[in-house]
Formats: sequence, structure tokens, C-alpha cells
Amino acid sequence: MPLAPVDLSLIGQVLAADLYTEQGILLLGQNTTITPAHVILLQKQRVREVEIIQSLTEGTGEEVTSQLFQLDADSETVAAYVQALDKTRLLFDELTVGGAETLDHFSNIFFDVAEKSTKHLGLFRNLYVLEGADSYTYRHSLNVGILCSLIARLMKWDEERVAFMGIAGFMHDIGKMRVPKEILLKPGKLSEEEFAIMKKHTVFGYEMIREMKGGSELLALCALLHHERLDGSGYPEQRKGDSIPIECQVLAVADMFDAICSDRVYKGRTSPFEAAQLLWKEACNGILNVEIVAQFVRYIALLYVGAKARLSSGEEVEVILIHQDEPMRPLVRRMGEFLDLRHDRKLTIEKMIG
Ligand SMILES: [Fe+2]
Repeated sequence: MPLAPVDLSLIGQVLAADLYTEQGILLLGQNTTITPAHVILLQKQRVREVEIIQSLTEGTGEEVTSQLFQLDADSETVAAYVQALDKTRLLFDELTVGGAETLDHFSNIFFDVAEKSTKHLGLFRNLYVLEGADSYTYRHSLNVGILCSLIARLMKWDEERVAFMGIAGFMHDIGKMRVPKEILLKPGKLSEEEFAIMKKHTVFGYEMIREMKGGSELLALCALLHHERLDGSGYPEQRKGDSIPIECQVLAVADMFDAICSDRVYKGRTSPFEAAQLLWKEACNGILNVEIVAQFVRYIALLYVGAKARLSSGEEVEVILIHQDEPMRPLVRRMGEFLDLRHDRKLTIEKMIG
């Protein structure tokens, strides 16, 4: 069994053997999943290394956790996000071994963080400043849930539908828990056969939600159809236009936005500005719903007023004013002077840095 150092990287790992103090008192039992409190306990007991069970996981979340706490988002919201991330990992991992969960398990985790993150925009703005592909599926699920309920609000849907969209976003990828880990976590490009298996996560998700106590047909359809595209280029059913429920069209926008902003899918990180621009292009090409993308892009643009960004030239600037007609080319301040990116067209916003 491998030995692991007692630090934050231990969170989420599973102990391979019972751990005793020097006096022979049992500290932690075999198969304990390490929490932050356990790390503190072990450090207090001056335990330097522990034996862990080697497992293929998506990472422990500690990288994200430590970065989140360095952000200036309000601490209660950050704590809620970190906690939700932790619980998401445990719940989703249970699905890999076939645990039949109920919808309530998912709702309970999601709604606390959803409520806080839509009220306190600090967290939302900072979601995409985080580096690293750590815990990708869990984070992606939480983020897409938050984004979906946000879009539903922007579309002026009633609170019941806002809540539905949040949970639909949170659960849209649960089918991935039935995709073999070697494929799900494979670094680099998937082969054609592997990609065909990966695509099945939509069908798996549909089945899992239908079997779940509390799951509805529409919720299951959201998992099934979130990769469909308006022009019929998506999967698994190559549906076109209105045959894709509007809820799934919202999900497609949120899913693509989070995927672009996270480094896992597109090499090198993309700023939310660039991501929004890409979504806009997809909408103009008849792939995504124009009305949904327009509402979302306008919101993203406004959210980033006052944020710090790095230009393609490498300079740091502050976003001052967002133009209604071209939100992705805002007026920025560079060392005291103003720069209108509508006029300096060689420069683009490359990365948000705070
Ligand atoms: Fe997906």
C-alpha cells in the first residue's frame, strides 16, 4: 500500500490500515475517508505519513479548496461551495458502485450552495479564476447547476422552474459515474471507441434518474439530451430545433460555458469573456439557442465590471465599462489610462485574474 504525507492532499483518500497513537489508542479505523478535520487530528498527533488505498479518483478537491479560500468571495459562500463539493464527491462516488440514491440526496446538497452563490456574486465571478482540473466532474456539476438556475432567472422563469434547472444542471452528468474510470479520467484525447463509450453517459444518466425515487421524466431527459444541438449535430438522438426541450437547450449553454472556462476540455484557460464570445458564435451558427445565449452573454459581461483581466499582450487591466453592442470588447484601465478594446482590435481579454 502506498504511503501518503499528512497534509491537505490526504483529504478524500482512504486509510489502508487502523492508525494508533504511540500509546496504542485507536486514532482512525481502516477504510476511513480522510476529512480536513482528520488531517488536523493527525498533524496534532505528529503523524507524518499514513498508508492509503490506491484508487483512481478525480482528485481530492484540496487544490480547489485552498485556492477558494484565498479569494475575496464572501467566506460563508466559499465554505458552502467547498462543503458542497465535498458532499458531491461522496454522493457521486456512491453512484459508481451502484448505490441507488433518491432525488432528495441531490437537492439537499445543491440548494444550499445555489442559494448563496446566486445572492453573492463574488463566488460566481471567481469560479473561473481557479486553476487546475482537480475534481472536474464534481465541480462541473455544481457549476452547471449554478449556471442553469442563473439562466432560468435571466429568462424570468418562475422559482419552481429555476429550482428545477438548478438540479437538472447539477445532475446532468451523473451518467459519467457509470463510464469506466480509465476513459473518464484519461488524460489526452479519447480514441473513437472510447469516445463512443463516453457518449453513453447521456443514456446512463437518463436511466439512473428514471430509476431514482423522486426523479421525473423531464429531469431524466435533461441528462439524455444536454449534448443535442439545434442543427442536429449533437448526440445521442441527433434531435433538431424544437424537438429538444427548452430546458435541455439551457443546459447545453451552461454546460458548454463551463467546459470552455475549465482547463480540462480546451487546452489553456479561456476567460469567461472569450467563452461568451464562443457561445455567441455557436448561437449565430444555429447550434445554440440565440435568445438564451444573448441573455447569458449580457449578464456575464455586466458581472465582470470592476474585475481584473490580463490582455493578450500580457498587461494587467481593470474592466471599466462594457459596451452593450460588443460586450466582449470592454473599456479597460491600463496603468491609469483608458483603453477601448473596440478600437484596439489586436488586443483581446485573455484571462480574468480577479
Ligand atoms: Fe455531458
